[in-house]
Amino acid sequence: MKPVLELDGVTAGYGPTVIIENLSLTLAAGDVLAVLGRNGVGKSTLMKTIIGQTRLHGGEIRLNEQAIGHLPSYRRALSGIGYVPQERDIFGTLTIEENLRIAARAGRWTVEEIFSLFPNLAGRRRNRGDEISGGEQQMLSIGRALVGNPGVLLLDEPMEGLAPVIIDQILKVLHSLRASGGLVIVLVEQYALMALEFAPRTIVLDRGCAIFDGQSSELSGNPELMSSCLGLSGAIR
Ligand SMILES: Nc1ncnc2c1ncn2[C@@H]1O[C@H](COP(=O)(O)OP(=O)(O)OP(=O)(O)O)[C@@H](O)[C@H]1O
Ligand SMILES: [Mg+2]
Repeated sequence: MKPVLELDGVTAGYGPTVIIENLSLTLAAGDVLAVLGRNGVGKSTLMKTIIGQTRLHGGEIRLNEQAIGHLPSYRRALSGIGYVPQERDIFGTLTIEENLRIAARAGRWTVEEIFSLFPNLAGRRRNRGDEISGGEQQMLSIGRALVGNPGVLLLDEPMEGLAPVIIDQILKVLHSLRASGGLVIVLVEQYALMALEFAPRTIVLDRGCAIFDGQSSELSGNPELMSSCLGLSGAIR
């Protein structure tokens, strides 16, 4: 199968500081990857490197076999990368509906379909981004990425800080996206067990390097490997 997203020996960071070192990855349509690792190891930096918010020191990033490593973020988004940042980055002064409309591009997902996917948002479509709860902001951030009709969806800790009932709703949507096939999903998670269950393949980062890259079941079935890669807290959550 043709690769959709390729990282080829990627070294990247902030200004002169290198955070991600010599990372290679190939993902094809429908591939779902979990990115795990302790706090501060570079998970968000990896997402930012793919979308173009860091400095690429070496290697190349390709989307549908085209080099994108030197394109600005907005061009990568237009080429088909949807990004749900850890900070959510909702436009607070725009309504929910406006946040979605400005990101909409022709394709499978329309604004109305996002409202069917997240009924909480539909009921509050005229509320401003800064008037809604953290859970609703997270749903909006995911909806905003989807309505751009990407081929690759980058999700940076979408469950962080949310109530269990909201986590369940978001997980249900992620499962339906996974089941629909076609989309490459890269999920950064602190909830290791949830991520290992969701994604067939996992990479574990440590200080910007992949210390594990393989089948999620290999990691979840091996408590010693889990704790050496993730520490005890990562293993039990
Ligand atoms: N804008 C920035 N400028 C300089 N250094 C940064 C910047 N953002 C992050 N860093 C540094 O890069 C390293 C990796 O941070 P990153 O946010 O990618 O980690 P993370 O794995 O996402 O952590 P967390 O689990 O806390 O979200 C850290 O040492 C951090 O201090
Ligand atoms: Mg992070």
